[in-house]
Amino acid sequence: MKVDVLLGLQWGDEGKGKVVDVLTPRYDVVTRFQGGPNAGHTLEFNGEKYVLRSIPSGIFQGGKVNIIGNGVVIDPLLFKQEAEALAASGHDLTKTLRISKKAHLILPTHRMLDAANEAAKGASKIGTTGKGIGPTYTDKISRNGLRVGDLLHDFDKKYAVAKAKHETMLKALNYTYDITELEAQWMEGVEYLKKFSLIDSEYEVNNYLNNEKSILAEGAQGTMLDIDFGSYPFVTSSNTVCAGACSGLGIAPNKIGEVYGIFKAYCTRVGSGPFPTELFDETGDKMCSIGREFGSVTGRKRRCGWIDLVALKYAVMIDGVTQLIMMKSDVLDTFETIKACVAYEIDGEETDRFPFEIGENVKPIYAELPGWQTDMTKMQSEDEFPEEFNNYVSFLEEQLQTPIKIVSVGPDREQTIIRYTEE
Ligand code: GDP
Ligand code: IMO
Ligand code: MG
Repeated sequence: MKVDVLLGLQWGDEGKGKVVDVLTPRYDVVTRFQGGPNAGHTLEFNGEKYVLRSIPSGIFQGGKVNIIGNGVVIDPLLFKQEAEALAASGHDLTKTLRISKKAHLILPTHRMLDAANEAAKGASKIGTTGKGIGPTYTDKISRNGLRVGDLLHDFDKKYAVAKAKHETMLKALNYTYDITELEAQWMEGVEYLKKFSLIDSEYEVNNYLNNEKSILAEGAQGTMLDIDFGSYPFVTSSNTVCAGACSGLGIAPNKIGEVYGIFKAYCTRVGSGPFPTELFDETGDKMCSIGREFGSVTGRKRRCGWIDLVALKYAVMIDGVTQLIMMKSDVLDTFETIKACVAYEIDGEETDRFPFEIGENVKPIYAELPGWQTDMTKMQSEDEFPEEFNNYVSFLEEQLQTPIKIVSVGPDREQTIIRYTEE
């Protein structure tokens, strides 16, 4: 068997959590392979709403095994809060959730370093989620990190060494802080984490594959936030692209099966950084209010704009997307005209390539399509789709050279339409 991978193709918050939940019945195992509690994956079903941060979105569909892979960074305190809240609502995960011993730990001082680095950047700050993601991955790459497996042997000593290093760095940044309470809670998180199966997940994942079990890998963030291919430096600190699933789980590239690429029918971004199709007018405000575009982790207002096919084509190429999933098309239900950016004009030249750097000189060139002006939120099948909507779907498929196989018309699990496109 192979690992199917679901990836956000834009700047995150495409609706990954919802679709992983919808797809989970098709799989035996669901895994996360990168990112950490910077993610906020929202699921809605039976009138209930959950936001998952470090825990995979495959936990609500019948006791499936869920694995937090080695590529993930985990904050024991936030993990405890998340898992305890789930347990309180009847979802005890101690038997079904497993955590890689090689996943790196976010320490309380990593959070402080995240804040201190942002403060030092001043106006050019990244606008991080403040969860210590960058400093934790920095320690991983510079070979100073602590891993989940370290909790099992001599942890206090290792923790003290790492903390002392961070304290020196924080002092150099003139950052004043008090982590006494945070640290005490974090240590409780450490004890809590030890109740879960801490595993060699690369062996477990490959064993599942060898035993004909199917696996879905759930991406966090999105391709345009990838550390290598995103809008650097306004990115996260992990490989959010398909290749990240190989290194973040310990699977060979030839073990990747379907690559689901998920995108919104328009586009959003939270935090700083370039966003060529961003709207600063009432159209953008309308997308924001109808789409309820506020961060699921930080509550920050998301910036909104038209779909950017230059960026999307780039993402489809880097990720090797085999099928597309379009989310939140219902948000555009009342729009008279839909625009789609098909190329950029850069210093008077037209290009369909995503450039090295995006500055004020990058101007989107739009195609305009008629809106469908129909409430699609209660539709059950593609037979009900209005003609203008079908035209938008065909236009995107043609542009991206990839079939759109799922359309989401609302936040609820049930508001999901599988299209029966020919193979
Ligand atoms: P993720 O990080 O990719 O899992 O996405 P988020 O959960 O951060 O953001 C997606 C938001 O859109 C959540 O509030 C979802 O409940 C909501 N959502 C998902 N799909 C749809 C949809 O098709 N229509 C609408 N209106 N909302 C949706
Ligand atoms: P999900 O999985 C949207 C953004 C932050 C910031 C940049 C770096 O819910 O789609 P970080 O804290 O990772 O160092 O922040 O990346 N960012 C996200 N934006 N969705 C996310 O996750 C994000 N995770 C990080 O806003 O611009
Ligand atoms: Mg999110």
